[in-house]
Amino acid sequence: MDRIRIAGGGKLHGTIPISGAKNATLPLMIASLLTDQTLILDNVPRLADVGLLQRILGNHGVDVMVGGKRPGESQYDGQTLHISAARIVDTTAPYELVSKMRASFWVIAPLVARIGEAKVSMPGGCAIGTRPVDFLIMALAQLGVSIEIEGGYVIARAPNGLKGGEIDFPKVTVGGTHTALMAASLASGTTVIENAAREPEITDVADCLNKMGAKITGAGTSRIVVEGVPKLNGARHSVVSDRIETGTYAMAVAMTGGDVMLENARPEQLQAALEVLTQAGVDITPTNSGIRVARNGAGIAPVEVTTAPFPGFPTDLQAQLMALMTRAKGTSRITETIFENRFMHVQELARLGARIQLAGETATIEGVDKLQGAQVMATDLRASVSLVIAALAAEGETMVNRVYHLDRGFERLEDKLSACGATIERISG
Ligand code: EPZ
Repeated sequence: MDRIRIAGGGKLHGTIPISGAKNATLPLMIASLLTDQTLILDNVPRLADVGLLQRILGNHGVDVMVGGKRPGESQYDGQTLHISAARIVDTTAPYELVSKMRASFWVIAPLVARIGEAKVSMPGGCAIGTRPVDFLIMALAQLGVSIEIEGGYVIARAPNGLKGGEIDFPKVTVGGTHTALMAASLASGTTVIENAAREPEITDVADCLNKMGAKITGAGTSRIVVEGVPKLNGARHSVVSDRIETGTYAMAVAMTGGDVMLENARPEQLQAALEVLTQAGVDITPTNSGIRVARNGAGIAPVEVTTAPFPGFPTDLQAQLMALMTRAKGTSRITETIFENRFMHVQELARLGARIQLAGETATIEGVDKLQGAQVMATDLRASVSLVIAALAAEGETMVNRVYHLDRGFERLEDKLSACGATIERISG
């Protein structure tokens, strides 16, 4: 298994190109199942999860062709996928595949909406929480889908098609909103989604569906209206840039000190996180091409943060912020409200000398003057990158084990950081 070796202590200087968003790419690729024509996606990141989803879609009969490199294209430019679900040959998503990537459960929506049936394995729990899919199932039932649970599979049927309806989520859910949007797009009549997720990835998927011929209004707000259409077409869409990757590198610069330009970053996508970084004493300057992040001289000030659905502080940046606060001048508090078990990084950060107390949903972090390199273990995608951030500022060498977690969601992390002066390398096998 690959590991990453980091010798900490250097500041970061230079430019980091931000890739397309993993959490927009996955639902966009799944949306290709809604049409028999080709969906072309540009700015697709080269991630393990994207590769795995290609295999999962292939299981349903979807052809994915990767566009060739174009003149002037750099190694950092996203890839272009030509995705064709002309003929769906299988409407079952097996446990072996779904259990590897939870988001693949969302194929249930386009399959039952377009074909009238789907048999999809329940995803099961994961490192950060139980993560049930009851709200997604509720949304489909609201659109007239009959649901059976059998042998760990959700069997969804709608032989006469879906019917528009009212969906009111008891709690904001990103996956539930993606599922409702895709299903309602091909339902007959009008669907109203209340308490919808407002994440930029939701807006990106709605934009793409509208290019495919859907009639969606209100995406990005908590009330979305979908006028169903009988058929969707092909389209070309460029994936929105990754706000979590943006926030992660901003935290890395804040941790080490330095001055870095985050190219393609969109400040309006992560206002809450940028405000917290400003409170912590980091200089944040939006520019025409991205965001400039700098910290020179001044120490890191402690903050109090509670995670929340967009536009609140994203749970996917919680671990990275905690790493930063391990070196703050004082006491910070971070409360995690989205996932019940998202503090796996605490014990690993403690191995680097961090002082963190956990009480229920809240972590109290006593800032220390210095961290010391050590062997640490990645446990999930965002926790693993928080260890990289801490190691960049730790004295001596850190070895991060099980980096396959990182590869799921960060494209060329070592290249991007070493291009800015970090001493970081991957050790294969
Ligand atoms: C998406 O997960 C993201 N994944 C997550 O990013 C992200 O952390 C999460 O949204 C919140 O922003 C992708 O986009 C692929 P939810 P999702 O449904 O859709 C509960 C990463 O690191 N819930 O918004 O699964 C659920 O347990 C990943 O990139 C139910 O109870 O999250 C959680 O407590 C990690 N029943 C809360 O709602 C349901 O049916 C929010 O979950 C659905 C959700």
